[in-house]
Amino acid sequence: MIVANWKNTGSKELIRAWVDSVSQDIDIVKGKDCVFCPPTCYLDYSKDYIKQRNKDIKIGSQELDSELTSPLTGAISSQMLADLGCEFVIIGHSEQRIHLNESNEILSDKFLKAIERDIIPIFCIGETKSQKDADLTKEVLSKQLDAIQTDLVSKCIIAYEPVWAIGTGDHAEISLIEKMHTYIKEYVINKTKSSSQISVVYGGSVNLDNYKEIYSSTEVDGLLIGGASLDACTFSEIYNMS
Ligand code: PGA
Repeated sequence: MIVANWKNTGSKELIRAWVDSVSQDIDIVKGKDCVFCPPTCYLDYSKDYIKQRNKDIKIGSQELDSELTSPLTGAISSQMLADLGCEFVIIGHSEQRIHLNESNEILSDKFLKAIERDIIPIFCIGETKSQKDADLTKEVLSKQLDAIQTDLVSKCIIAYEPVWAIGTGDHAEISLIEKMHTYIKEYVINKTKSSSQISVVYGGSVNLDNYKEIYSSTEVDGLLIGGASLDACTFSEIYNMS
């Protein structure tokens, strides 16, 4: 799968231009989802506009609020995302973990609520630079993975996104990506005592120069792309050539 994460960028005009261009250039292949995650306020608009283009670009939300605190002014529930036709939701992105101080308890609730509505969580995990330098990456990833109910792991996508690689232009080396994807899969399989299929995608400064090497690894099941996904031609090329 290839996911475009627009973060807090976008407008109706930019979305129309992007969807027009991607719909024209992209060859959607069965088994390789093409997922567009616009800002929440444009989910409905994007879904409608994609429908007009009759292209199988799926919609993902960047946001879902935990229902541990309810009522909660300003919150988005899983029922609303399902109502809007979202098929995916990004949970645990490091920018949100840091900004919203999200605990495993909160993330676990979001994860379960999404699954209850048949929305596939893209569950993000990753270490900071100082954790990497202190050789704590595996420990950090394990703790983050403990937030998700591992028997449900086949219903989600795990995104390995080193915090230090996000938006910095400094992507992780393929050897590190492979090592961590293997570790994530082993950790989950050992916990669940099952051989369920686990999809792990990579995110963090993926661009036209590095996507081929990253995606060519059998350990990499997809890409989560932020900055580079804003350019429709770049995104289409990455999707088509991956
Ligand atoms: P980036 O963002 O591709 O701009 O590094 C990835 C992400 O935050 O998901």
